[in-house]
Amino acid sequence: RGTMTVGDLAKLLHKDASEVIKKLISLGVMATINQELDMDTILLIASEFGVEVEVKIPVEEDTFETVEEVDDEADLTTRPPVVTIMGHVDHGKTTLLDAIRSTNVTGGEAGGITQHIGAYQVEINQKKITFLDTPGHEAFTLMRARGAQVTDITIIVVAADDGVMPQTVEAVNHAKAAGVPIIVAVNKIDKPDADPDKIKQALTEYELVPEEWGGDTIFVNVSAKQRLGLEELLEMILLVAEVNDYKANPDKRARGTVIEAELDKGKGPVARVLVQHGTLKIGDAFVAGNTFGRVRAMVNDKGRRLKEAGPSTPVEITGLTEVPLAGDPFMVFEDERKARAISDRRSIKQRQSELGANSRVTLDDLFKHI
Ligand code: GTP
Ligand code: MG
Repeated sequence: RGTMTVGDLAKLLHKDASEVIKKLISLGVMATINQELDMDTILLIASEFGVEVEVKIPVEEDTFETVEEVDDEADLTTRPPVVTIMGHVDHGKTTLLDAIRSTNVTGGEAGGITQHIGAYQVEINQKKITFLDTPGHEAFTLMRARGAQVTDITIIVVAADDGVMPQTVEAVNHAKAAGVPIIVAVNKIDKPDADPDKIKQALTEYELVPEEWGGDTIFVNVSAKQRLGLEELLEMILLVAEVNDYKANPDKRARGTVIEAELDKGKGPVARVLVQHGTLKIGDAFVAGNTFGRVRAMVNDKGRRLKEAGPSTPVEITGLTEVPLAGDPFMVFEDERKARAISDRRSIKQRQSELGANSRVTLDDLFKHI
């Protein structure tokens, strides 16, 4: 465990141990000279003495970020595509996903506005598709900014009775920046004033030209409400997936991205994660952003308990020590000790960047203890 004693810290700060102890007591921490301090306390005390602590993190040890292992082609197997549904407010993203899942999510949402990113998996003709329902573009932007690439295909929903709106354009730009294929779902075609051709025309301005007009963008007319065109939409998704043949190696330690996380009163920190590589198993020790844990229980989108989850599977996990952030990468490690050490390093890195720059003291020694 990466800690140091009161005596070590005093030496490092060129202070008397008694001064450090006094400071600790003033902060409500009763301590002796041999007492081990946690990272938070070390950083707090250092800043109390007006010293900014700089912790040198040996980069090569943070394999999480630095090592991008290459899989042997022979180890790769086809995985379900991960599909994100985006589009302007009220154009019917949730209703569409809802219709696809044949359950009712919109009805249970406060005010009918999506509260958070949900991840779901559906199966059509024995082929699975993983869907992410986004609350809007902020979350997507945040995840992208944090380097999380989770989606393979973007469905852009445009209401046929409305038109191409600012968030439609944003969604198009996001998808293009991410370099993922776009399928346009022209929704609400049941409405009397629906004009799907007007939507197609408007989108040509953004280089989305329908196939029948000589372009290469797939457009599907749908009515989420009346369940029209859904089969065709799903077929198109599977077609794009087949062409791109998304693959992953299921036979290794899991890696993926946190889709959303929260503190549950009963269960503690809960995270919904998308497994992207490898297979996540009960008991696995993992790092998620600055936090770590061990998978205690794993539940799929239908509330079923799972023992393991392979590539493209969204699961809810418990067993975290803290709540990670949406977009945080997660990765399984060989043991909990290692996972904990890495998450500690990251917390320090972060805390350090939060404390402004004053006088600097280097704490490399700290890591000799880990
Ligand atoms: P946000 O999550 O708030 O961005 O909205 P959304 O894009 O998820 O839209 P939502 O699914 O909540 O639908 C907005 C409204 O449009 C609801 O009142 C739906 O009932 C209605 N709606 C969605 N799809 C259709 C459709 O195909 N036809 C008609 N007539 N109404 C639809
Ligand atoms: Mg919604």
